[in-house]
Amino acid sequence: MFRANKIYRKNVTFFIDLNSVNKVYLGLLNEKSRYLHIYGGAGSGKSFFTAQKLLIRSLQERNHRFLLVRKVARTIRNSQFSLLKSLISVSGLKKYFIVKDGELSLFNKITNSEFITAGVDDAEKLKSIFGITSMWIEEATELEQKDFLQLDLRLRGKSKNYKQIILTYNPVNAHHWLNSLQMKNSHKVKTTYRDNVYIDDEYKEVLLNLKEQDEEFYNIYALGEWGTLKNIIYGQFEIINEYPAVTDEIIYGLDFGFNNQTALVKIYIKDKIYYTEELIYKRRLTNDDLISEMKKCNIRRSNYIYCDSAEPNRIEELRRNAFNVYPADKSVKDGIDFVKRCKIFSRAENVNLNKEVLSYSYKQDKEGNLLDEPVKFNDHLMDALRYAIYSHSKRYGGVNIRFL
Ligand SMILES: Nc1ncnc2c1ncn2[C@@H]1O[C@H](COP(=O)(O)OP(=O)(O)OP(=O)(O)O)[C@@H](O)[C@H]1O
Ligand SMILES: [Mg+2]
Repeated sequence: MFRANKIYRKNVTFFIDLNSVNKVYLGLLNEKSRYLHIYGGAGSGKSFFTAQKLLIRSLQERNHRFLLVRKVARTIRNSQFSLLKSLISVSGLKKYFIVKDGELSLFNKITNSEFITAGVDDAEKLKSIFGITSMWIEEATELEQKDFLQLDLRLRGKSKNYKQIILTYNPVNAHHWLNSLQMKNSHKVKTTYRDNVYIDDEYKEVLLNLKEQDEEFYNIYALGEWGTLKNIIYGQFEIINEYPAVTDEIIYGLDFGFNNQTALVKIYIKDKIYYTEELIYKRRLTNDDLISEMKKCNIRRSNYIYCDSAEPNRIEELRRNAFNVYPADKSVKDGIDFVKRCKIFSRAENVNLNKEVLSYSYKQDKEGNLLDEPVKFNDHLMDALRYAIYSHSKRYGGVNIRFL
């Protein structure tokens, strides 16, 4: 049992229930190294704890300017910002904070400590931010080393409280600069789902299942060890900044989930080249939730939406809501073989799609033989993409194919 932490500020007492912090992280509440790496397997509570630590600091220490940063600005709203916001709310601390949803900032009225946000992709905004006193880099492996060095330079000058950069990430690639970078005054902690008492059973099952599917995946995502994914399926994706203003056709791919993510991808087709845009990537969406999310996506009645054919009831319900849905051709091998030969572009904003592409791999059995099927993990947008591209090409006789 841990005691609740009592913090006094200007006659205001905050209670933070330290019982809710996963035990493995408790010692880190007072860890003051300049660089704090919290890395490891999926679902180990890294992000949640970091939000807890920063919230506690914002209550205990005055005049902070915490920077919440990620590679792509657009992704901060649904990750660090929403995590902190909901933590403030469930901790009953809402009345002490000014929350600015528009500019993604949070301000503690009692301690004068604030949280501001910026993406590495938003160089102008980053340049204009001064007086940062600590920082949280979420999904730090998304950053190039030069991005990190720039951020590191922003944390300087005198401040009353300790200055710290917290980096949270999965150890996906042993050759990543984060694994080789030697930094003085750094502290590294590896955690796994076993350290998170709040992990849900279904997700635990998905992680444990990886052992049967692919050792390397299991090592990285369940055991939190640095690894290298070798049998990547789609090597042809390229990231570009601008998509064509005019396209020939627009199609959609939809993968249903509930415990897993529901994924919706929009694909612009121009001159037989595919341009992708991820639209929905959320867990625990009921069909009603999904329909209301889809209604916000400006999907035309005439646009084809290819989705998981194993769920005819959900398809029927979407149809009744005026979506032009079709059951996808789910042949995995043929579908993948087809998609592999297509020219496909993505952009930096497709954070989840780009992440899935980087780890979407063929299974390898214990004898090292490559199998014809992908590892079933982080594959929701990959399925949605295949449903759309492959099924649409079959429907129209393969006209949308371009051999590289
Ligand atoms: N202290 C906590 N109290 C309540 N829920 C928690 C706590 N810590 C983690 N969780 C829950 O456990 C799940 C996984 O936590 P989190 O997202 O922080 O893991 P992660 O290590 O950042 O995962 P990933 O590697 O996928 O980014 C989330 O649903 C989160 O809400
Ligand atoms: Mg996380």
